Amino acid sequence: MGVTKKILVTGANKGIGLAVCEALLESYSETFVFLGCRDRNLGNRAIEAIIQRNPRAEHHIALVEIDVTNESSVQMAADEINKHDASGEPNLYGIVNNAGIARSDKGPQDIIEVNTKGPKRVIDCLFSILQPKNGRVVNVTSASGPNFLSRCDKFICKILTNENVSWDEINKLCSDFLEKYDNATTSVKAQLVDEVYGFSKACTNALTMNQAKLYPNLIINACTPGFIETDMTRPMALRNGRTPAEMGMKQTHDGVHSILFLLMEHRVGSGFYFGSDCLRSPLDCYRAPGEPEYTGP
Ligand SMILES: NC(=O)c1ccc[n+]([C@@H]2O[C@H](COP(=O)([O-])OP(=O)(O)OC[C@H]3O[C@@H](n4cnc5c(N)ncnc54)[C@H](OP(=O)(O)O)[C@@H]3O)[C@@H](O)[C@H]2O)c1
Repeated sequence: MGVTKKILVTGANKGIGLAVCEALLESYSETFVFLGCRDRNLGNRAIEAIIQRNPRAEHHIALVEIDVTNESSVQMAADEINKHDASGEPNLYGIVNNAGIARSDKGPQDIIEVNTKGPKRVIDCLFSILQPKNGRVVNVTSASGPNFLSRCDKFICKILTNENVSWDEINKLCSDFLEKYDNATTSVKAQLVDEVYGFSKACTNALTMNQAKLYPNLIINACTPGFIETDMTRPMALRNGRTPAEMGMKQTHDGVHSILFLLMEHRVGSGFYFGSDCLRSPLDCYRAPGEPEYTGP
């Protein structure tokens, strides 16, 4: 079968992003994957590993350098993807905004830049090359988003669960969070460092609603991959003196289900947040896999 679905996965040189690329190429013969990475060497190594495990992938994958915090890098990635299409038509079927960080030596600003402003930058730059009628975007967020909203200030929760939320409102909350951090005492700073990951993912769930409204012809959703053993989560097990399995972490191939579902299934709706079991979840409280699907607005 020829290529009909070209898909960019950001942060795909390892972890869940890499597993998504592999699963797409394994299960959907019509896909062509742009493996997004910041470091070409790491990206090339990941591609070699994919081809070694699945030789059929060789003509269905290409590396795209993309740092989601850097506007010109994202723009260059868009140009690179566009060059792949001789027709010059907008021909990117899907974007998986997977790149993410949970901790940073540079502080909370970096986490917001990657996790929230990154997906915004990617869509803004790549919108013009997305298929205008059925293009899809999956923002990989986290259950930390609803967990954060279930505990936070009611004012913040109200904004981030409002289906008509604007980017200006989300951006203002990000600035407020960082201003609060800058002016905080050491102990409050430590608390905000713990909270910023959940905050950034709650903002990205809100961004997903906002983008779905802005681009009604596209299918744009967010999901959590589940609790997955990767370089991001392994330190958590170490800190707790337990193995990743004892902590309940699953393997990377277990973290792809909701992402693939939102890329490929019909009638998934748009502007929603899904659990790792491919069912909708609320934005402001945790729904465990297997619990009934959320059916609210
Ligand atoms: N693992 C979990 O249990 C879990 C749970 C909920 C949500 N998530 C979400 O799932 C996504 C993938 O996480 P993971 O667990 O697979 O983590 P991971 O193994 O640490 O992979 C993160 C990926 O993001 C890339 N990245 C970081 N900063 C970037 C930037 N500025 N521009 C482009 N790429 C960047 C990393 O590239 P480098 O190698 O160059 O650093 C890496 O490829 C994240 O959005 C995360 O928040 C994970």
